Amino acid sequence: MLDRRTFLKTAGLATAETLIAPNLHVLAQTQAEPASPVAANDHIQIALIGAGGQGQGDTKVALQVPGVKLVAVADCYQGRLDHSKELWGADVFTTRDYREILAREDIDAVIVATPDHWHKQASIDSMRAGKDVYCEKPMIHLYSDGPEMIEAQRSTGKILQIGSQRVSSVIYAKAKELLASGAIGKLNMVTAWWDRNSAIGAWDYTIPLDASPETCDWPRFLGTAPKIPFSAEQFFQWRKWKAYGSGVAGDLFVHLFSGTHFVTGAHGPTRAMATGGLRYWKDGRNVPDVMLALFDYPEGFNLSLRVNFVDGGAESEGLIFTGSEGTMEIGGNAVSVSRVPREKAPGYTITTFTKAMQQRILEEYRQKYPTPHPLGPPLAGFEKYVAEHGYSDSYSHFYNFFASVRSRKPVVEDAVFGFRAAGAALLSNRSYDRDAIVHWNPQQMKIV
Ligand SMILES: NC(=O)c1ccc[n+]([C@@H]2O[C@H](COP(=O)([O-])OP(=O)(O)OC[C@H]3O[C@@H](n4cnc5c(N)ncnc54)[C@H](O)[C@@H]3O)[C@@H](O)[C@H]2O)c1
Repeated sequence: MLDRRTFLKTAGLATAETLIAPNLHVLAQTQAEPASPVAANDHIQIALIGAGGQGQGDTKVALQVPGVKLVAVADCYQGRLDHSKELWGADVFTTRDYREILAREDIDAVIVATPDHWHKQASIDSMRAGKDVYCEKPMIHLYSDGPEMIEAQRSTGKILQIGSQRVSSVIYAKAKELLASGAIGKLNMVTAWWDRNSAIGAWDYTIPLDASPETCDWPRFLGTAPKIPFSAEQFFQWRKWKAYGSGVAGDLFVHLFSGTHFVTGAHGPTRAMATGGLRYWKDGRNVPDVMLALFDYPEGFNLSLRVNFVDGGAESEGLIFTGSEGTMEIGGNAVSVSRVPREKAPGYTITTFTKAMQQRILEEYRQKYPTPHPLGPPLAGFEKYVAEHGYSDSYSHFYNFFASVRSRKPVVEDAVFGFRAAGAALLSNRSYDRDAIVHWNPQQMKIV
């Protein structure tokens, strides 16, 4: 039978699960207003630069936003240009040279979904050609990319949104609101991870059978990267090499940073240290497959990050925010809060003392804390907020992007936010490569 105390405790622990409705994606935007209704002839005409896995995925999502039309696609592999026509029709203009797209007047905005080493140049060229830009994460490949992209956005006045979709997620918006309302007290730590245990998870993407210097525009793919002979592996599995990708930090930590910065409002860490190694995927790559990193935030919390591509289990991704009165966890399409208010009385440890001493301490204690907590230990609480089935933060992010393209109001994730997230992530590589603690000024976005 449940006595009163047990009942109250059980009731306090009961799961309160609240569904977050999908139409809330509109409310997730922090600054831009919802897109105005679109007239039939009032399309935003877009082009895709980099039609690989993410570029094709992004475009499919972008085209779900009312009033968006795809006009052109640029890519360095012929098979992806041909598949773009299969997906979106023979009328779609395709080219290996994105400058042909930028020269067209009928294109309002571009999606940049190239490998990381092309993000800066493709975004800047696009803005200078008068196009608005949705640039995939990580915004930068080199630290010098950040100020150049920020400056290009300011001087052209074009819309530039970075593609960390969590910034538009209803789940992260709810987490932000919960933290600000004091749901877990004062934040002191964030622990986040992204573990995988598969070949594809470790970036072993399939190389098409026709990959060759004829079907792949290798010089264009290389861009500013060191000139080496054609390599199908490096072309299709570029994340494994620093020349094009940014390691697990640029690929995955950056999502954990954008989530942490959005939820906490922090601009970035001041100090970072990383370790790890290449433990399993020894296939010629020059970046680690296990990385652990620690960061100090001036707001008074620490961030601990982990990526493990050999995790011995299923893929898992999550963030836990630890506060003085509880924890908040983001995982899947849900955010939950476990709350344990701080005790009102400190308690005592007296059994090893003499009986007389125990008696005296007890009497003093009772005087200082006269009423024991009326319900026994503090009540625990648990709340969970789940996004409705099928909810997509990528859709919300594109919805917000196109709302800004129409309204010319600030985007939800601008270049400063994108640089702060990617700049913080790349501190891990810097620390790992130098075997040293590294410092960063998050306000000025500079290595110290
Ligand atoms: N937001 C997310 O959740 C998310 C998820 C996956 C990837 N991404 C990002 O998207 C970007 C692309 O990743 P991916 O997995 O699609 O890679 P991918 O290799 O599948 O596709 C990249 C494509 O870019 C093309 N390309 C290279 N240089 C080019 C150039 N100069 N002009 C035009 N096309 C060029 C390549 O031919 C290739 O088809 C990366 O920066 C990655 O970090 C973001």
